Amino acid sequence: MDFLYCAPTVFVIGNEYEILVNANENGLIGIEAGGKIYREENSGVLATEKNYAKIRVPQNILDKAKAYSVIYRKTIDRRAYFSLMAEEQRADFSFRPIEKTENIRVYHIADVHYRYKEAEETAGFFGDDTDLFVVNGDIGEVETFENYRETSRFTGNISKGKIPVIFVRGNHDTRGKLAEFYTSFFPAERSDTFFSFSIGPLSGVVLDLGEDKPDDHTDASYPNPDVYGGVNDFYSFRRRELEWLKSVGKAEKGKTVFAISHICPVQTTRNAGDCFDIERELYAEMNGELERLGVSFMLCGHIHSAYVLMPEDPKSLLKHDYPVIVGSEIVNEKTSDGETRFADIIGAAITVNKESVEVLFTNGKREITEKHVIKTEKR
Ligand SMILES: [Fe+2]
Repeated sequence: MDFLYCAPTVFVIGNEYEILVNANENGLIGIEAGGKIYREENSGVLATEKNYAKIRVPQNILDKAKAYSVIYRKTIDRRAYFSLMAEEQRADFSFRPIEKTENIRVYHIADVHYRYKEAEETAGFFGDDTDLFVVNGDIGEVETFENYRETSRFTGNISKGKIPVIFVRGNHDTRGKLAEFYTSFFPAERSDTFFSFSIGPLSGVVLDLGEDKPDDHTDASYPNPDVYGGVNDFYSFRRRELEWLKSVGKAEKGKTVFAISHICPVQTTRNAGDCFDIERELYAEMNGELERLGVSFMLCGHIHSAYVLMPEDPKSLLKHDYPVIVGSEIVNEKTSDGETRFADIIGAAITVNKESVEVLFTNGKREITEKHVIKTEKR
């Protein structure tokens, strides 16, 4: 195991898994599961000049095998002919697919903003009984590759390479010098960070609304008021995402269907008319598609507050027929000298049953701060 930088993470995407592996040094990385070796797709060339890989494995193979091995050969010298690779090393991991149909324990955490240690405490609420993690955006901005690796270590630490993880991009994860490398590490269908997922009796869609302000947002209080400097095109991205969402088919009967989005499309802000109140028409169309798909609930972060937004709640900017669980609160405290500092992060411990979901907001001491039981219609 010494060759690994951290435990791998098994991400859920479509009806497959994407296993993220980070090694200490550059090398050839593969996953062996069910008697077959899987590699990162690179048009026939196997990557050796990097120390990470994101490898697709079919769900049915890993679900059956319940174990996989990372196989690794350190790169000594890659050449046109006679490349030199070190002896193969292996690290074995057990894997736990979701096989039960009731009492599915999902831990939702978002808005970590680099506070990995504290977030690990919070995310450990269900302990070894966790069936699925949802890591819902704003984990950290990405200035360096080390930032990607720190986030990989966080997801590896909470899931131990054993529990599946749904990983979603947040607006802060689109920021920073190396933001364009996001899909080299984290789940995407080709280069798209919105996707459908299916695992055990759960299925649904992951949305990515990109930045929280318009691409051409300006702030006159700065000498150069162009906030994004022309480096984003989320306007087009969201429109492509809507077209994709329209093409998603309804899940097979009996599945619990839900949506996950870092920014909530039906409540982008709690202050209507501010700079975050964007794309209402487009988000209304997205909401219509979510209702068509029959989502039982939606999981969101971003607002740094933990609450449940029921249908017909006047605080929603758009009407929706499903509850929204906003499941991440940043708790700050005042120091003796009057400064405000970070104190804790609250996440959502969600138990999914066929007819209802129980939502516990829990803190870093694994105490329950609030409890909700939400009836979910079987659609
Ligand atoms: Fe955010």
